[in-house]
Amino acid sequence: MTRTVTITDNETGKQIECPVLEGTYGAAVISTKALYDELGMFTFDPGYATTASCRSAITYLDGEKGILLHRGYPVEQLAEKSTFLEVVYLLIHGELPNKKQMDEWSHSIKMHGMTHEHLSRFYTAYRYDAHPMSIMAGVTSAIASYYYDNTDIKDPENRLLTARRVMGKIPNVASKCYRYASGLPFVYPDNSLNYVENFMYMTFSWPSEDYEPSPVAVRALDLLFILHADHEQNASTSTVRLAGSSEANPFACVAAGITTLWGKSHGGANEAVIRMLEEIGHPGNVKKYIERTKDKGDPSRLMGFGHRVYKNYDPRAKIIREACHDLLEQVDLNQPLFEIAMELERIALEDDYFIERKLYPNVDFYSGLIYQALRIPASMFTVMFALARSAGWVAQWMEFMEDEDFRIGRPRQLYIGPKSRDYVPIEERE
Ligand code: SDX
Repeated sequence: MTRTVTITDNETGKQIECPVLEGTYGAAVISTKALYDELGMFTFDPGYATTASCRSAITYLDGEKGILLHRGYPVEQLAEKSTFLEVVYLLIHGELPNKKQMDEWSHSIKMHGMTHEHLSRFYTAYRYDAHPMSIMAGVTSAIASYYYDNTDIKDPENRLLTARRVMGKIPNVASKCYRYASGLPFVYPDNSLNYVENFMYMTFSWPSEDYEPSPVAVRALDLLFILHADHEQNASTSTVRLAGSSEANPFACVAAGITTLWGKSHGGANEAVIRMLEEIGHPGNVKKYIERTKDKGDPSRLMGFGHRVYKNYDPRAKIIREACHDLLEQVDLNQPLFEIAMELERIALEDDYFIERKLYPNVDFYSGLIYQALRIPASMFTVMFALARSAGWVAQWMEFMEDEDFRIGRPRQLYIGPKSRDYVPIEERE
């Protein structure tokens, strides 16, 4: 028997049986497709807190238990045993690659590591101190103009080619955002290096010196990229899906995701956390700062804390915090800021305000400390997040393009504006 939920309009007595759909894990969903036709009503769910926008087999997260799976693999195992490029393969193809597949995948991504030479001129249109996320969004959208005539989003092979192009070029773009802002010449990729080494080479190498990225730094960045790769239907991923629903160019969809990620409530929080820790300045100031974030009259929030889904410790934050401990000896981690962060976490997790609202550290709380230790400036933290999340964006975009329910996204509203009224000529108005 099909499981259903009955909705009754107690004014008219009209009833509708809504089918319930069950997934592998997690909350079942109520299909309300017939609601408007049957009851002439919409659902109302600002912020989509209880709305499932799609079926997806890519990432599962359980906010209560702090579980995060990518194609069924726990993020803790991928963080410990995999590499970012292998996780990109997994997100897109649904299975871990064998050696031959991984070699071919790595080679194909490298073959797409260059961008059109003319694109390099685009960066110079930005102010010298433009925020790198503004540059990244603009340049990524501009790449669409180079592939517009040979992108067939209906062809699965072409979608896979697009995914390779995005993952090949996004490190190139990210590195140039940094180089332009730092007044440094752009560096071409060196395909003798692996994915993360190449990104660090393009970003941090110095024209007049040899550059060898430290294995510890490469491993730390690879770990951060794995932990930021995908996260179900978050704001930026939902933006990419919505843009994709109109059949927009996939590079333009990724650029829309970059723009959404930039906000400090989302991916921009990692930059805001470091600025918050620097503002707090000393572990002894933590208590006073926390009181401010609890004050409804004060707009400041505890950046890096809270999450729409996680009502437990974000498993990614746990892994990054452990990595901070491990890295303390190996890289120049800002120990005073790390101590402020741990003191802030300790006090907040004992405070009723945070306990009642189930506010825990999220992925952005500790990540900035590692980025900073790798000499990545705070303005580039969200660019790092966007580089990694491009994997999730393209994987989710590809999945949506093949979805049996694929159609243009078009939410409705509860209209609360004026009733219909006639135009009044200006001379007759008060
Ligand atoms: C990311 O969705 C994803 O998966 C995102 C992400 C991903 O990988 O894609 O995980 C990445 O975006 C992580 C979140 C990074 N953002 C921050 O760290 C910014 C600080 N956090 C918040 O602004 C907030 O917690 C959100 C935006 C993350 C979640 O907001 P919600 O779910 O809309 O929660 P809410 O605003 O309804 O808050 C509920 C209550 C409110 O208090 P009351 O009105 O009930 O009294 O909790 C309070 C809020 O004021 N609250 C906070 C708080 N976060 C929520 N109070 C102080 N500090 C905070 N950080």
